[in-house]
Formats: sequence, C-alpha cells, structure tokens
Amino acid sequence: MKIQDYFKFLSIILSSIFYINVGIKHFTEPQWFLQIMPPYLPFHLELVYISGLFEILLGIFILFNFTRYHACMGLILLLVLVFPANIYLAQTNGKAMDISPVIAWGRLPFQLVFIGIAYLQRDFVFIFNKKYDIGLSSFWNDKYINEKTKWDIGGATPILTNYLKNKKTEIGKVCVLGCGNGHDVIELSRYNNEVYAVDFSKRAMQNLENKLSDSNVKVQLIIEDIFNLDQNYSNSFDMVFEYTCYCAINPNQRKRYFDLVHKILRKDGILFGIFIPFDKKTNDGPPFKVNLNEIKSYTKNKFEVIENYISKLSIPQRRNRERVIIFKKKG
Ligand SMILES: C[S@@+](CC[C@H](N)C(=O)[O-])C[C@H]1O[C@@H](n2cnc3c(N)ncnc32)[C@H](O)[C@@H]1O
Repeated sequence: MKIQDYFKFLSIILSSIFYINVGIKHFTEPQWFLQIMPPYLPFHLELVYISGLFEILLGIFILFNFTRYHACMGLILLLVLVFPANIYLAQTNGKAMDISPVIAWGRLPFQLVFIGIAYLQRDFVFIFNKKYDIGLSSFWNDKYINEKTKWDIGGATPILTNYLKNKKTEIGKVCVLGCGNGHDVIELSRYNNEVYAVDFSKRAMQNLENKLSDSNVKVQLIIEDIFNLDQNYSNSFDMVFEYTCYCAINPNQRKRYFDLVHKILRKDGILFGIFIPFDKKTNDGPPFKVNLNEIKSYTKNKFEVIENYISKLSIPQRRNRERVIIFKKKG
C-alpha cells in the first residue's frame, strides 16, 4: 500500500470509531441529544435511539470494502437528517446545550465537512492480505489453476471481431494487457497484426501457448507484470487492447495504468478499451467498478478520445455494462 492509502485507511478507522462512539452515546446519555431535538418533531427519545443505532451500524459497515460505498451514502443521508438538530441548537444561540453562540453556529459548517469526508471515503478500497493481493501473479495464477475464471467468455468479444472486420487495413503492432487465456489475442493475430500478449499468470500463458500451437498465427508471449513493460517497450505499439484488465488491477493503480499505456504506445497510437463494469455499486473486486469521470480525469492530458459509446455487440450478460472508448495518444 502507498503512503496515501495508509492515510485513507486511518481516516476510515477514525470515522468508524467516531460514529460508533457517538452512536453508543445516544443510548447511554440520551438526554444529551434530547436537548437539541427540535420541538416540532415527535417521538424525541425514539428518534435519538434510531439515529444512534444507525450511527453504530454505519460506523461498522464503513470498515469493509464491500459495504463501504453504501455505508458512506447512508452516513451522508443520516448527517442530512440530523442536521435540523444542529440548526435548532444554533437558533437557540447554544442555550439548548448551554454552550456559547459562537460554538453553536460554528458547528453548522462542520456537518458539511463530515458529509464531504463520507463522500470521498465511499470509494476507498484497501487490500492487505498478501494471499489475496490482486497485484500478485500468484493470486491470478491460482484462479487459472482452479479454473475459477468467471470473466472468461470463452471466445473473442464480438466488439473486437466487429471492429477488426470493418477495419480495412492491418493495425500493426498490438499489445494486449492482462490477456488471460488470450481469445482476443488470437482474434487480433488472425487479422495479420503483430500481437504481443502480456499476462503475469504463467498458467494463463500456458493455456494460450497450447491454443496457439494448434493454430498457425504468430504471437509474442510476455509473462510479465504489465507495469514493467515500460522498461523494454517504450514507444513500441500501434495499439493497446484493453479488456477486463483495468478492472482487475487495484484501483489505486489506475492512473499508473494509463501512464503506462501512454508510454508504450507509439506517436498517435491507439488505446482500444472495452471498460466494464459500469453498473457496479460496491467497492469490492476484482472486478472493481469503473467510472467514466475517473477515466476522463486520468486520460485528459495524455489522450484524445476518438470514440466513446456503449456497444450493442456485447454478449448478453454484459449488455449495457461495458463501454468502448478509443483513445489516441497525445504528444
Ligand atoms: C479478469 S482477467 C481478464 C483476462 C482477459 N483479458 C479476458 O478478458 O479473459 C485479468 C487478467 O489480468 C492479469 N493481470 C492482472 N494484473 C496484472 C498485472 N499487473 N500484470 C500482468 N497481468 C495482470 C491476470 O493474470 C488476468 O489474467
């Protein structure tokens, strides 16, 4: 994990402790909260208990990758719902709690800060356990060995096949990142392209090699971490093909991913990306959810977008969940 991830993690731990602590206080010292219940609301004690219970639950759920997104959205809603209590305290100039008017009014903007923090935290993802570290080849290799490869659609994506059919000329030198069993690699090579297939799973590459021995296409197999490619392949490729590699790497490596692609592409080279999943709400993965704004922010200085559309050619299970974005290298 990088240093900023430790700060993000610390912020989650502190928030969790804070919300659980305040939530428990709702039960142990309800009178403290009853003082600031706006008189126009009914069921004061019940509302204090309910809001306390939610603070405890959301404070717990914020701790886990797979519940963090919804916990943060829940906290934002809760902070909005309890805001009237803060406003009431300010309207009494602090008398409701026997505090100074400055503190009573000064507390109000902090509620927005808490909302902002929860909004930022909703996308945090942490991976600690080395055994489950998706940045390690062993994590992926085990999946191929145990045939737990749900992402493998058993053939080239029809989106690529259609693109290649309609393209009148060869593309040239193409790099397929995180190629897995390599169905798209074989498809690209059928159209006379010089294909470099990259994956750090030895088993996946072995599977691809076996398939290639039955066909007469020529492919370069590179068993390597994609993030090492810039050492030997700067300005090398006419096209980089992306399909389900971007959602497989740790999301905190995504900017690095685009920097890498920029580096290995030749001048005016193309990144042909099929990005998925756009519909996922939770932060768990792989596959990690994909977000268009995030992609735009990482690519705007390095790439020009040539095409950006939801393809009608996706296989049924992926319909409307994947987006084709074709970029041209800038500079
Ligand atoms: C979800 S699979 C997709 C495989 C293939 N693109 C497909 O559509 O079937 C992700 C692949 O990326 C590979 N991978 C993940 N991180 C990688 C890295 N840092 N370097 C090389 N390969 C990586 C994994 O080994 C795995 O084969």
